[in-house]
Amino acid sequence: MKKTISLSINGSECSAEVEARTTLLDLVREQFGLTGAKLGCDIQVCGACTLLVDGKPVSACSMLAVDVDGCAIETVEGLSRKDKLHPLQEAFMEFGALQCGYCTSGFILTAKALLDECPLPSDQQIRDYLAGNFCRCGCYQEIMQAIKNVKGQA
Ligand code: FES
Ligand code: FES
Repeated sequence: MKKTISLSINGSECSAEVEARTTLLDLVREQFGLTGAKLGCDIQVCGACTLLVDGKPVSACSMLAVDVDGCAIETVEGLSRKDKLHPLQEAFMEFGALQCGYCTSGFILTAKALLDECPLPSDQQIRDYLAGNFCRCGCYQEIMQAIKNVKGQA
């Protein structure tokens, strides 16, 4: 049986018909074509599927779409403004903070949530906040540099 939910995605109000088992990740990727968030582990360990729900990072692989009824969802596709990238996106490019890019959407959204909450985090606060995001290409140093470069500006 399907249920209709209403939500906002990157600032646009929308609705969707979902089954009880539909995950938030499947909803954004399959119904809205927003494929920046990726399926990695599927068990809430790697962070590749991270999205922001009401400003907080969540593992979209492990959250049901019915549970975001009425919520505001942000995906990496919503970060740029017209043709201008978000400062975190610019910094990830500038510092080479990605190789294959599979983890990048998750890292950028988690970092955005951190900087929204705490504009001038210490190195340890950055590491702690990002502890649930894995980069199999091992770009951790560059990711740290990119986030530190954006502190206080994002
Ligand atoms: S795919 Fe969701 S945490 Fe890994
Ligand atoms: S850039 Fe490849 S997994 Fe992070």
